[in-house]
Amino acid sequence: MANGQTLRVGMVGAGFVARFQARAMTEVRGMELSGVVAPEGAPELQAYAKQTGLGPCTIYPSVTEMAKHVDAIAIYCPNFARLAVMEEIVAAVKAGAELKGLICEKPLARNVAEAKRMVALAKEANLKTAYFENQIHMKPIKAALAQLAPQQRTMGPMSLTRSSEEHGGPHMGWFWDPTRQGGGVLCDMGCHSIAVGWYALTPLGKPITFLQPIAVNAEIALLKWGLPYWREKLLKDRGVDYSKTPGEDFATGMITYKNPETGQIVKAQFTNSWMFEKQGLRLFMDGMGPGYAFEVNTLISPLNVFIGDVAAEAVADQEAALEKATASRGLLAVQYNEADLYGYTDENEDARNAFLEGRDGLLPLSYGLEITKLVTAAYMSADMKKTIDLTDPQVQKELDTYIPLVQQGRGKEVLYVG
Ligand SMILES: NC(=O)c1ccc[n+]([C@@H]2O[C@H](COP(=O)([O-])OP(=O)(O)OC[C@H]3O[C@@H](n4cnc5c(N)ncnc54)[C@H](O)[C@@H]3O)[C@@H](O)[C@H]2O)c1
Repeated sequence: MANGQTLRVGMVGAGFVARFQARAMTEVRGMELSGVVAPEGAPELQAYAKQTGLGPCTIYPSVTEMAKHVDAIAIYCPNFARLAVMEEIVAAVKAGAELKGLICEKPLARNVAEAKRMVALAKEANLKTAYFENQIHMKPIKAALAQLAPQQRTMGPMSLTRSSEEHGGPHMGWFWDPTRQGGGVLCDMGCHSIAVGWYALTPLGKPITFLQPIAVNAEIALLKWGLPYWREKLLKDRGVDYSKTPGEDFATGMITYKNPETGQIVKAQFTNSWMFEKQGLRLFMDGMGPGYAFEVNTLISPLNVFIGDVAAEAVADQEAALEKATASRGLLAVQYNEADLYGYTDENEDARNAFLEGRDGLLPLSYGLEITKLVTAAYMSADMKKTIDLTDPQVQKELDTYIPLVQQGRGKEVLYVG
């Protein structure tokens, strides 16, 4: 397992996820944060890397420059900047930069055309890749599948999964802007829930895309942030006007898969929202097969703290307790190692081992493209108010160029704005 070697990583972007990933990297042996390129946040990330001994985290003026000094580049910048960054990386490799690997955070892209371009560019530069879908690497998911392996072997595979990721809304304006981000919560978080649902359904020992997606049915809605009070707050706080270009704050749907060997039909339901009114982020997954089941709920922690009204003023940092925390008093769940719980630690370890051994991570960029197709099909279903038949070659062709109405800035045609 490439023991004793170190993978030197350069990050593009130094915001929320870059900080989370840096924290995760401190838990992985043989990873160094060598460099960063970002218009904002780079000095803070560098200070963190130095303080934790994670690496020098040299601030580079460009991706081209950084590529000469690192083993792998991790794309942690906003969705709208992905392709330009990827093109610069590929040009740097063609000019002689010796990269062992490329990491790209979810979502791979805003639509199928962009995702295909990302995959093609990686191929052009002969890059080993890792698409970072952290939820597939979650220890609770791995443990559930390992625990239930004997039951799966004797009783047969799982037939239903339900996955959701929900919180009260993103931390930066660009996430709320459907044209820059790619949509609303379906593009931002549906990609997670769709991926983990598909993964948990996959029979033991089979490749990650073994189950064939055959149909997608989905709905999107604007349930909270289109109402006047919340719309105005969004405009004031994040600079995004949902009276003109709304994105969905709720999405739900069902994906049907077929086992190509047995013909068995299995289903994965997903639900995502930015209007979740609980303590903070909740990931919920469950799955069931004949005679067995699992359930994961990240709001249940072995650690609770209580903060009474008289002491509430003294709260230090609610986000240090839980991602997207919305309350600072009462009985609060604390997840003291979210980077590990949500799978960031394990996805970094997977990428480190894969790149040092000269192969792709568990989830290559081509897997990210499959997820982009499913997310786009879900938007297509919501836009057209019908089930999308993925076995129809014509539909597959349409997906290649489909831009969801919300992403086009035409969300008002499908969402209610109060
Ligand atoms: N896995 C997860 O659960 C998870 C969580 C949060 C974010 N993400 C993903 O990570 C990506 C970044 O999100 P974030 O929350 O960190 O955003 P953010 O806005 O907090 O940070 C973005 C960073 O990228 C930098 N940046 C902007 N344009 C750039 C460019 N052209 N080149 C280089 N750097 C640029 C910004 O200065 C900032 O440092 C998004 O694609 C998002 O979907 C994933």
